[in-house]
Amino acid sequence: MLTAASNARAVAEVGTGTGVSALWLLEGMAPDGVLTTIDVEVEHQRAAKEAFADAGIRSTRTRTISGRALDVLPRLADSAYDLVFLDAEPSETSDYAEQAVRMLRRGGMLVVAEALWHDRVADPARRDELTVAMRELGRSVREDENLVPSLLPVGGGLLVAITR
Ligand SMILES: C[S@@+](CC[C@H](N)C(=O)[O-])C[C@H]1O[C@@H](n2cnc3c(N)ncnc32)[C@H](O)[C@@H]1O
Repeated sequence: MLTAASNARAVAEVGTGTGVSALWLLEGMAPDGVLTTIDVEVEHQRAAKEAFADAGIRSTRTRTISGRALDVLPRLADSAYDLVFLDAEPSETSDYAEQAVRMLRRGGMLVVAEALWHDRVADPARRDELTVAMRELGRSVREDENLVPSLLPVGGGLLVAITR
């Protein structure tokens, strides 16, 4: 729904996994849209490529990049993406988000999975490292004047923000 609402043609995903979220992103994208998806695990991406083929996705619609997100993201272009979806290593998500904002065109959409981190983010008594990291990311997105944020309480929580 988010890729359809933003009429996305260029989408980047951090954390391909076995391709479940990629298929949903592709479903809403423009028919000629291209999804760039990054994962450090070659085996996961192999399974994702099989899932894309089984779903009849043309190979020109996906660009899979193997590598650590923090090595790959700085090489992706500025202001070139309509939507960037983050779903990889939670402790690094703030760093991914910084890259994502650089990569998004004006009016583009940042989407962060697991933003409620197992429902711990809203509980101030929870102070473990990953909960604090996700809580801090939510705060910095909320306080960034260049972003219009919303926290959708679906699944593990989706933090969504539009760049001004
Ligand atoms: C939660 S899974 C992604 C699930 C996928 N988005 C989906 O919904 O189908 C997280 C993925 O991030 C990948 N990952 C973990 N650390 C990473 C890193 N530093 N760089 C790139 N990918 C990473 C893992 O290999 C794993 O496939």
